[in-house]
Amino acid sequence: MEDRKKFYITTPIYYPSGNMHIGHTYTTVAADTMTRFKKMTGYDTYFLTGTDEHGQKIERKAEQAGKTPKEFVDEIVAATKDLWKLMEIEYDDFIRTTDARHEKAVQKIFRKFYEQGDIYKSAYEGQYCAECEAFWTPTQLKEGNLCPDCGRPTETAREESYFFRMSKYQDWLIEYIETHPDFIQPPSRANEMLNNFLRPGLQDLCVSRTSFKWGVPVDFDPDHVVYVWIDALSNYITALGYGSEDDSLLRKFWPADVHLVGKEIVRFHTIYWPIMLHALGLPLPKQVFGHGWLLFGNDKMSKSKGNVVYPGPIVERYGVDALRYYLMREMPFGSDGNYTNEAMLTRTNADLANDLGNLVSRTVAMIEKYFGGAVPAPHAEEEPDRALRERYEALPALVEKYMDELQFSLALSEIWKLIGDCNRYIDLTQPWILGKSEEGRPRLETVLYYLAECVRAIAVYIAPTMPKTPARIFEQLGVTDPELFTWQSVQKFGGLKPGTVVHKGAALFPRIDIAKELEILSGGDSGKNPDPQPQKQQKKPEAKAEETPKEEGFGLITADDFFKVQLVTAKVVSCERVPKSDKLLKETLDVGGETRTVLSGIAQWYTPEEMVGKTVVLVKNLAPRKMRGIVSEGMLLCASDAQGNLKLVTVDGGEFASGSEIG
Ligand code: ME8
Ligand code: MG
Repeated sequence: MEDRKKFYITTPIYYPSGNMHIGHTYTTVAADTMTRFKKMTGYDTYFLTGTDEHGQKIERKAEQAGKTPKEFVDEIVAATKDLWKLMEIEYDDFIRTTDARHEKAVQKIFRKFYEQGDIYKSAYEGQYCAECEAFWTPTQLKEGNLCPDCGRPTETAREESYFFRMSKYQDWLIEYIETHPDFIQPPSRANEMLNNFLRPGLQDLCVSRTSFKWGVPVDFDPDHVVYVWIDALSNYITALGYGSEDDSLLRKFWPADVHLVGKEIVRFHTIYWPIMLHALGLPLPKQVFGHGWLLFGNDKMSKSKGNVVYPGPIVERYGVDALRYYLMREMPFGSDGNYTNEAMLTRTNADLANDLGNLVSRTVAMIEKYFGGAVPAPHAEEEPDRALRERYEALPALVEKYMDELQFSLALSEIWKLIGDCNRYIDLTQPWILGKSEEGRPRLETVLYYLAECVRAIAVYIAPTMPKTPARIFEQLGVTDPELFTWQSVQKFGGLKPGTVVHKGAALFPRIDIAKELEILSGGDSGKNPDPQPQKQQKKPEAKAEETPKEEGFGLITADDFFKVQLVTAKVVSCERVPKSDKLLKETLDVGGETRTVLSGIAQWYTPEEMVGKTVVLVKNLAPRKMRGIVSEGMLLCASDAQGNLKLVTVDGGEFASGSEIG
């Protein structure tokens, strides 16, 4: 059997010093999206995440909470796993640095370094704060050698430590980075590493501590615990069984294809980690990608600053797919960006409710209306169909290229170009007009087939980013054959079988009232959520996006739904034909003193002259639409018979006041 291509991706292992926020969620969603994409395109994937649980900071936090360190981290780890479940994160393994498998392997690694002379014992000398039990470098100290944390005077102290001879590998690493341009991404971060750290010369790294106990003991010198980076970085191989009896995962998946990390820890991943691996005789990861920060105002969101947003309330109100989409779409991977609820809601309305949601609901509704729900078979392709198909067929290569560069936002923007093209194709081909005559029928069949096939492909493409929405689209499209969910099935236009029976369902992403939601989300605050467990405390939304009751066919609506449609009487003040259109009339309406312009496809049945003076029924709160360069501000109600003939609904009897409510 041919070897399948493999793909190993990791996130940082996060400090469980507090609950994970939207920043950790960002990296983890990116890794999950990438994994799902690689899986879909035929790779054997392995996705590792976890927690970095040792160290003095956690030891202290636990003490403050009146818990043992292990009790303390166990709770946060449980909450973290719940959060990843909520976010639809499908990791293959969750490594904890307190796992016995990890601790044993770290001891082996430390000993090996010591035995081969990479680690030596010496003393660490510097300014020490007894209160905080921490050494501070000259640049960290406040004026007068005061502790930057508690402000107390520090003293000169020595602590016996083990050190790693980083300097020994410096030239090798410079050469490696220079000859492997893909290793550090984005490339600007490679220059930063070379210029700021490597070329000026590496310091040897302190790799053990005696001042605290919450760590992996050095087995040959038990006063020492392994300090931070050897413990943390080696998770990427200990999780695969490095140093254990079964290292089959290591043999299969190492080297990692990409370590995703925030830009603040690129240095550790591109300097210390490569040197450690080289010293162990292992190949280096193919890539370290340092992505940007989610900012709150101008600050990095962080657990220690407490200026964080938690995903729970957002997911609960708008669904996990809306948040995942936003995170992957809003900012280029690599750049910083501000997180605001307002930007997230605005994008959800624009891209998901309008562009995607409307396309799906219009397509399905038209297939039901004109073809009793059965997807029609297409006929000979005409110009707009060809253009749409070409966009469709160009998409796999573009999406794959951007995904391989971890440019999630660009990949999504290509997918949204297809969605935009579909919506424009509807405006251009005007299916509602084609549907009115027998001659329009064959074109209508082609148009609706093309739309349905594009909608199917879109559901396939969005799956890595939005794992829940595709099933809802396939359900509405009536697609049940798993072959039609695959990457393979969108390489060539035409997979959808004519005759497939669609079922109109609930709106995929109901429109959000942004002002109202911002009020609820902020709870009177500026949008940040200080509560560490907000998921459980937020008010429930009145109707959850994911749980809108399903309708069958046109289904039943509630009185509330009906009263959302504002129907009023309107008097036609003037009317004219729309130039170059044999279907459209442009009416000027008096709606209780307000003037509105509306376009209607009724020119075959009414002359402008006979329209003037009629009192008609206007859907007043329909979103405005532009047709032929004219904005239509509403819709007139018409009855339509089996042949597609139209007759206006009027309020007869002459002198009824315009602007009167109907209903
Ligand atoms: O650094 N914007 O753990 P950590 C974007 N244990 N990403 C963010 C973010 C933000 N505002 N805040 C956090 C550690 N992240 C070490 C790592 S790895 C061997 C050891 C993400 O809890 C981002 O991936 O401080 C960042 O690098 C990571 O969380 C830091 O998590
Ligand atoms: Mg951090």
